[in-house]
Amino acid sequence: MKTAAVCLLFLLSVILFKGSHAKPYEYLQFVLQYPRGYCVNDKKCIPPASLPAKFTVHGIWPTNISEPIISCDKAQKLHSFNGNLITPSLKTDLLQSWPSVVTNKDDMSFWEHEYNKHGSCTAPAITQTAYFERAHKFWKEYDLYSILEQKNIKPGQSRSYSLADFEAAVKSKIGTDTKPLILCKQDKLTRGSTTTNFILREIVICFDHQGTNLVNCTRSTYCDQKQKIYYP
Ligand SMILES: *[C@@H]1O[C@H](CO)[C@@H](O)[C@H](O)[C@H]1NC(C)=O
Ligand SMILES: *[C@@H]1O[C@H](CO)[C@@H](O)[C@H](O)[C@H]1NC(C)=O
Repeated sequence: MKTAAVCLLFLLSVILFKGSHAKPYEYLQFVLQYPRGYCVNDKKCIPPASLPAKFTVHGIWPTNISEPIISCDKAQKLHSFNGNLITPSLKTDLLQSWPSVVTNKDDMSFWEHEYNKHGSCTAPAITQTAYFERAHKFWKEYDLYSILEQKNIKPGQSRSYSLADFEAAVKSKIGTDTKPLILCKQDKLTRGSTTTNFILREIVICFDHQGTNLVNCTRSTYCDQKQKIYYP
């Protein structure tokens, strides 16, 4: 009886141990926002006109094909954000690559939110420090503004391009057989207009579990294939 109980306990701990080390997600989405599009007609945002024409990090999001947005804080509460790990030099980097564009959320709160909601399920394989350092490194490596500019896609209040134009430009950097994800904001550019315009909001590049190799993004876009997409 005692042996049986010990055996059961052993089995249980093996299962639990395995469980806690199973991969809680399948791939990573590196999400870059285009604040001038993201903030259009958003009262919680810095006015787009005062934002520079550049892309900044929104986050690195663990993802499952069947469940595109995993809330790590619900999935596992094991690793929550530790502000002390944001060293002064890391902070200097992140202020460049990952600033908050929402007026009621300071930079540190933005990082905390992103880490607790999305980042924390990459731990312990990817530590909090590695998570933020990687985001900064990816941001430098995938300089979307320049990548688009090289394909003659330049911002301007009335400039627009097709979804295919954006995809092709990003693919010129990540590989023609690798699918990025282009996300739009649907909005009215002019007051009183009845038609909805699509505005570039975010561009996502996807990586494997460890963030080493590029993979296809699997979420589908809600930008319209046929309509023009504004790049303000
Ligand atoms: C995501 O998928 C992995 C394995 O493919 C699974 O272990 C995990 O529970 C899933 N996570 C969620 C939140 O569905
Ligand atoms: C993306 O999907 C396409 C079509 O299924 C495939 O040919 C290609 O190898 C995939 N790319 C990567 C990086 O996995």
